[in-house]
Amino acid sequence: MFLTQPLAAAVRERFGTPCYVYDRASLEAAARQALAFPNAFGFTLRYAMKANPNHAILKLFHALGLHIDASSDHEVERALRAGFEPGKIQLTSQAPSKNLKAHIERGVLYNACSLTQLENFGKLFPGRELSVRINPGLGSGSTNRTNVGGPGSSFGIWHEHLENVRALAARHGVKVTRMHSHIGSGTDPVVWKRVARMSLGIAGQLPDVRVLNLGGGFKIARVPADKATDLLDVGEHVRQEFTDFKQRTGRALHLEIEPGTALVANAGCIVASVIDVVDTGKDGYLFAKLDTGMNEVTRPSLYGAQHPIDVLATDERGSAKVVFVGPCCESGDILTPAPGDPEALAPRDVPRPHIGDLVVLGGAGAYCAAMSTINYNSYPQAPEVMHDPDGTLRLVRKRQTFEQVLANETSE
Ligand code: LLP
Repeated sequence: MFLTQPLAAAVRERFGTPCYVYDRASLEAAARQALAFPNAFGFTLRYAMKANPNHAILKLFHALGLHIDASSDHEVERALRAGFEPGKIQLTSQAPSKNLKAHIERGVLYNACSLTQLENFGKLFPGRELSVRINPGLGSGSTNRTNVGGPGSSFGIWHEHLENVRALAARHGVKVTRMHSHIGSGTDPVVWKRVARMSLGIAGQLPDVRVLNLGGGFKIARVPADKATDLLDVGEHVRQEFTDFKQRTGRALHLEIEPGTALVANAGCIVASVIDVVDTGKDGYLFAKLDTGMNEVTRPSLYGAQHPIDVLATDERGSAKVVFVGPCCESGDILTPAPGDPEALAPRDVPRPHIGDLVVLGGAGAYCAAMSTINYNSYPQAPEVMHDPDGTLRLVRKRQTFEQVLANETSE
């Protein structure tokens, strides 16, 4: 972890706990690694900004030349405000856009994720070009909740409906020049490679497609037991597939990928404090209650996801097996569930925690600040801080005030 004990203590001193901290050097390193993804005929790296839409991260990735995968009208707006040129933003949304006309007139790219979305676009913009998101018939995720391919998923246009895609496109005179498939998060790399081939097969049946976006989903290692996807290995495989496709069809496709997790997850952590220590007797458990939990990180209680947790003890003390929990009145506010099983407790071996100890929860750059139960039990939203390469800690989002928690309530 990039946060040393003195740095974590400085975070607590200046910003209080709980507090998200992002490391700029780690963000840059992850972006540069993904920018080196092998490709045969050109490459674009989109950042799936749903993973972490903080403007400081968006600005950094903009400066490094990344493009954007936006998942809602609001994310499009957020990316524009962070300085992204409209042509670098592609909207891929479960919800039909309420702002489609304005987006397209500005130059934002559109990826139709259903036949309805394709039709909406065609009615507004006959003659224009767009992308379609295809469900290739197979998916893979770290759990079923993060799998978005195959017959059990509502994401994208089912691969057997290509005839409808072609008919709708013809009816409105629109051209499908880009195709997209994203099959899940924490995807098995073997399945990812297989789907790359299946997607090329589908692109072969859409003759105007020049760009193929294979989505994100690359596994990263948050804890030692995790095995990260080797980007160079899957990239080399895809490069070969694109080369073979060109030989078969004469079509040289431009490749896009759009990771979220791989770009930000291990560049972030949460600095927290131990607020209480309780136990349930000799056959029970020892619990450390932290001032962070599902209000800042829902992944453990949603997926049984594993995040590293370090107790930063400055004195000598024995270790203990500890279940870490958050401060919410909710038995599911658990930070150390069993892997893949949010309902089972899995104690961790750590220095025996004391009230007041500093604790750092790692792997928290992706889908933590972006995806938490903000204001449950009326706890204010935690602040976000950027750790710059010169050692500076820069506040990039303030802690919400109690007045802001109440701000939208009316007097009626
Ligand atoms: N592209 C599309 C269309 C997506 O829906 C997603 C993620 C990505 C790219 C990026 O996937 P990634 O590289 O981050 O795996 N909340 C879950 C993951 C669900 C993400 C939803 N879409 C988590 O905490 O792991």
